Amino acid sequence: MTDPATKSFRAMATRLMPDAVEARFRADFDAVPNDDDAALDAPAILARAEGCRGIVCSPTEPFDGELIARLPESVEILATFSVGCDHIDLEAARARGLIVANTPDVLTDATADATMLCLLGAARMAQQSEAVLRQGRWGRWSPREMLGVHMSGKRLGIVGMGRIGQAVARRAKGFGMRVMYHNRRELPPEQAEGAAFHADPASLLPQCDFLALTCPLTPETHHWLDAARIALLPDGAVVANTARGPVVEDDALIAALQSGKIAAAGLDVFTGEPALDPRYLDLETAFLLPHIGSATVETRNAMGNRALDNLAAHATGAPYPSRVA
Ligand code: DGY
Repeated sequence: MTDPATKSFRAMATRLMPDAVEARFRADFDAVPNDDDAALDAPAILARAEGCRGIVCSPTEPFDGELIARLPESVEILATFSVGCDHIDLEAARARGLIVANTPDVLTDATADATMLCLLGAARMAQQSEAVLRQGRWGRWSPREMLGVHMSGKRLGIVGMGRIGQAVARRAKGFGMRVMYHNRRELPPEQAEGAAFHADPASLLPQCDFLALTCPLTPETHHWLDAARIALLPDGAVVANTARGPVVEDDALIAALQSGKIAAAGLDVFTGEPALDPRYLDLETAFLLPHIGSATVETRNAMGNRALDNLAAHATGAPYPSRVA
């Protein structure tokens, strides 16, 4: 039975969510859905938000300080369909008394799987190899062609050892990799998955045959992988980014891929996405994915349900499953 407290709770969604989540949203809330999944700019959000107490948003809509300040007074909670909150000005939300909730935990495994996909896809030239096949260019098996970089047994550095970084470390151990990490703080042994902590990136990077970026985007991690840090990596290192595009300085990474300093990069996220620096498209050694880290049916349903659980908690006065501001 639908709780009357949620049924009378007016909430808008900025995106069309997976079917099962959308059905729950419409059944359990006084829902203002986005039926055709139209891209909503700030004026469109403000118009739809009139009279709403909640907004389910996603990383595709920047809720900057200006938009937050102009939200109708009725809006009390922003429940983002994501773990990342870099599209929301959290300080502005706090200043306005707007609650912000996200979707941690439920996407950890899918995103860690995608990080392994990026590492392996880049190291084993998955994109080029598939293109050879699809374009009818596969002459015959060759001892010399499509030679990637061996991943098993190599050294992996993880930047950002939160839930996703730890899940990547668990997977990497299955590949016999020696795992190290850089994080704001050292983890207790039961969370560190046997990985060695490096407080200073300068001691970590020279040891990384593989580097996985799994940190949140913050002012501190913006352009974290720049030319100076790339120079510290061993020649021929492989890099994966499943964090956020701006964690990487594109000019520096592209130059390193062009020179071969970095053998290959697996990238799921881009600065300015869905646009990306077109030079990546010309690089055979870039394995490129369109931000699919959490894109499994199970995970997207769980993320949507978590966003709705956060709204329902607000409507009924229950504790928030995952509040960030
Ligand atoms: C998140 O939740 O922040 C992801 O990037 C969406 O896949």
